[in-house]
Amino acid sequence: MKEQEIKQNIQDNSEEAKETVAENAPADGGEFGGFDDEAEFLKEQEEREKKIEEDKVLPPDEEAILEVRHLKKYFVLKKTLLGKPLSTLKAVDDVSFKVKPGETLGIVGESGCGKTTLGRTILKLHQPTSGQIFFEGKDVAGYKPSEMRPLRTKMQIVFQDPYSSLPPRSTVGDILAEPVKVHKIVPPDKIKEYVLNLMEQCGLRDYYYERYPHEFSGGQRQRICIARALAVNPELVVCDEPVSALDVSIQAQIINLLKRLQQERGLTYLFISHDLSVVKYISDKIGIMYLGSMVEFGKKDEIFDNPMHPYTVALFSAVPNPNPDEKSDHIILKGDIPSPANPPKGCKFHTRCPKAMEICKHIAPKYKEYGDGHFVACHCYSQE
Ligand SMILES: Nc1ncnc2c1ncn2[C@@H]1O[C@H](COP(=O)(O)OP(=O)(O)O)[C@@H](O)[C@H]1O
Ligand code: SF4
Ligand SMILES: [Mg+2]
Repeated sequence: MKEQEIKQNIQDNSEEAKETVAENAPADGGEFGGFDDEAEFLKEQEEREKKIEEDKVLPPDEEAILEVRHLKKYFVLKKTLLGKPLSTLKAVDDVSFKVKPGETLGIVGESGCGKTTLGRTILKLHQPTSGQIFFEGKDVAGYKPSEMRPLRTKMQIVFQDPYSSLPPRSTVGDILAEPVKVHKIVPPDKIKEYVLNLMEQCGLRDYYYERYPHEFSGGQRQRICIARALAVNPELVVCDEPVSALDVSIQAQIINLLKRLQQERGLTYLFISHDLSVVKYISDKIGIMYLGSMVEFGKKDEIFDNPMHPYTVALFSAVPNPNPDEKSDHIILKGDIPSPANPPKGCKFHTRCPKAMEICKHIAPKYKEYGDGHFVACHCYSQE
């Protein structure tokens, strides 16, 4: 990303921010007033619900393998004695996006922003609170486990920690043969040959077949996890921070393996990471999450060349500049991430946003498209 362009963007955005403030400011130029939070909240909720209802009846995008609409996953933290929710944590809060077959969607955001919950809810490892999840044109959000079973082979997950996600008492051969047997991918007499072939594709030597996971390094174990996910010939793979637990020297090998396998098999990836350089390298599209919400979404080049949301701009500014001659403009966000159990009112980012305006404290910005698939939720841009 060009530093100069980012700076220009920050400047442009601040100009727009001032304009928006001016538009919302009272005519006498005095203090802001007139926000009835309760009334604004109800109005905003009503508009959101209306939009959700309108979108619900739209047909799924035929070009998308995965289309998520207004997805919510709330965890109930406390219940009354009668089982009514007393407090909830909005881990995923009204998230919408589309991915085409063969694409990689990178999901970025600080720890706790809901990336893992989003991935797991899409795979129905968590039951969604509400929203639609179209996989190959069918809304699977309400599917029961028995209805999901035939789809299980099509959607797989690779976890962050390759140490805890492999059974310690099974050999690599048994680990990889298990899903092949269960889902009857090949006839029983062909399983060993199939597994050995898969191991070769994932860069695992054939003598590993008889070995146990603890005999291997993190990188080799992650190759085993990737092979296990691919054993059932999936179409969509959620890669949840697949290289975060690995040595930096090994990360590139695993990323390149994932890229090669994607090309060979036409896989679609949902690639979750907090590492922007990894996401930039592997993704076609990028979604930026903050406190359970998608704050910006678009094509990779568009997001990196023209980041619009102040949170995205701040995240990008934190990436060290390899050129020591160029001055870097690191934006330090004030404060800690608020708890998703008690998120700030209005725009959830307003407590840390360098460009927050009065309106941001009261009204949540709409998630809107500002040109060719580039979505942003921020009052700095026109919200009507
Ligand atoms: N099963 C659960 N029950 C209650 N809260 C959860 C559960 N899983 C995740 N959370 C909470 O949801 C939020 C998002 O978590 P997570 O999706 O793991 O974020 P990330 O992957 O971005 O670090 C966090 O505040 C986390 O504590
Ligand atoms: S607080 Fe939110 S809506 Fe306001 S300027 Fe910052 S990101 Fe945009
Ligand atoms: Mg996570």
